[in-house]
Amino acid sequence: MILGVLGGGQLGRMLALAGYPLGMRFRFFDPADEVCVDDIAPRVRAAYEDVDALAQFADGVDVVTYEFENVPVDAVRALEARGARLLPPLVALDVSQDRLTEKQFLNGLGIATAPFAAVDSAEGLRSAVATLGLPAILKTRRMGYDGKGQAVLRSDADAEAAIAAFDGTPSILEGVVPFARELSVIAVRGLDGAVVCYPLVQNWHHDGILRVSRTPSPVVNALMQADAEYAARRVLEALDYVGVLTIEWFEHEGRLVANEIAPRVHNSGHWTIEGAATSQFENHLRAVTGLPLGLPQALGVWAMVNLVGTPPPLETLASLSGAHVHMYGKAPRTSRKVGHVTLCAVDEGYLDARLAELLHVVGIETGNTARA
Ligand SMILES: Nc1ncnc2c1ncn2[C@@H]1O[C@H](COP(=O)(O)OP(=O)(O)O)[C@@H](O)[C@H]1O
Ligand SMILES: [Mg+2]
Repeated sequence: MILGVLGGGQLGRMLALAGYPLGMRFRFFDPADEVCVDDIAPRVRAAYEDVDALAQFADGVDVVTYEFENVPVDAVRALEARGARLLPPLVALDVSQDRLTEKQFLNGLGIATAPFAAVDSAEGLRSAVATLGLPAILKTRRMGYDGKGQAVLRSDADAEAAIAAFDGTPSILEGVVPFARELSVIAVRGLDGAVVCYPLVQNWHHDGILRVSRTPSPVVNALMQADAEYAARRVLEALDYVGVLTIEWFEHEGRLVANEIAPRVHNSGHWTIEGAATSQFENHLRAVTGLPLGLPQALGVWAMVNLVGTPPPLETLASLSGAHVHMYGKAPRTSRKVGHVTLCAVDEGYLDARLAELLHVVGIETGNTARA
């Protein structure tokens, strides 16, 4: 079985690492000079507009999947015209590449989101601010990730400056949700329509970048888990989806408000490599190749810390008791995710102590990720 993967970042690398024990082989497509799959799998390096390179990539591949959601839709169409099978389906990219379409889709399924308004002009931004009030967040509709393409408007002065500077990029204004915490659910749908969901994860962001995920603390009640799973199932079925899909949530006044969908394996699911019966990566591969899905249960409690920018020395990380260290083979750069560390434990007291140590080593303030 040969899988073609569009995108050669760390998510692709972890997909391949999960697939090798199953006897799967991988081929990647990525236009960048250097990508972190290069040391573990062959890669076609070409532009997404290069139809011949796409054909070469798809030749002999059993299924094509992707590890980032901003894959150009035209490249996928070119692949499909050559007879390649893409899973998850193209419609999932279409919906999630545009924040406006995505929110309309979620609301259409009865899933609550932040209030929002489409913004196409300076005047449109002025009236959106008047309707939604402040604070609000202005986001580009397309190509945003890790907080890029976003501006928080807190004051009238911020709003006036944003209106004056607005350059016509199709955008969306969202009301700020004063959330109690951020959660995410990772769900998987198999080729046969079977669905499994992982337990909700609690997430902390800094400057729009995920820094820490852990077993929610205080724990999420069973009804909220059920709500998240019910919503995920509706999304998966509406898209006739196959593979892993993530929904990011705000918990606000005891309810879940959807933030966004990622039609792929997700940073908040890295803990599943060591912390769950089956990892998100293996389950994605199982889904797109038509295998039965693996169990999503957590084996205990766990925490995952991203290494962003320049990481501590490997010797230091490796000296932490029980730490599972993952380095992506990327050169350190400001705001760049270069690796992560997962801790697993059977009890929360032990986890909290180990996490405090890890956060200290990584240089993150401990206060906000301790138990409430
Ligand atoms: N409407 C909102 N209300 C409150 N916080 C928000 C809102 N939108 C985004 N954020 C904060 O910014 C982070 C990144 O925004 P998100 O829309 O998820 O963009 P990205 O695609 O970059 O992940 C969120 O995880 C959350 O912490
Ligand atoms: Mg996000």
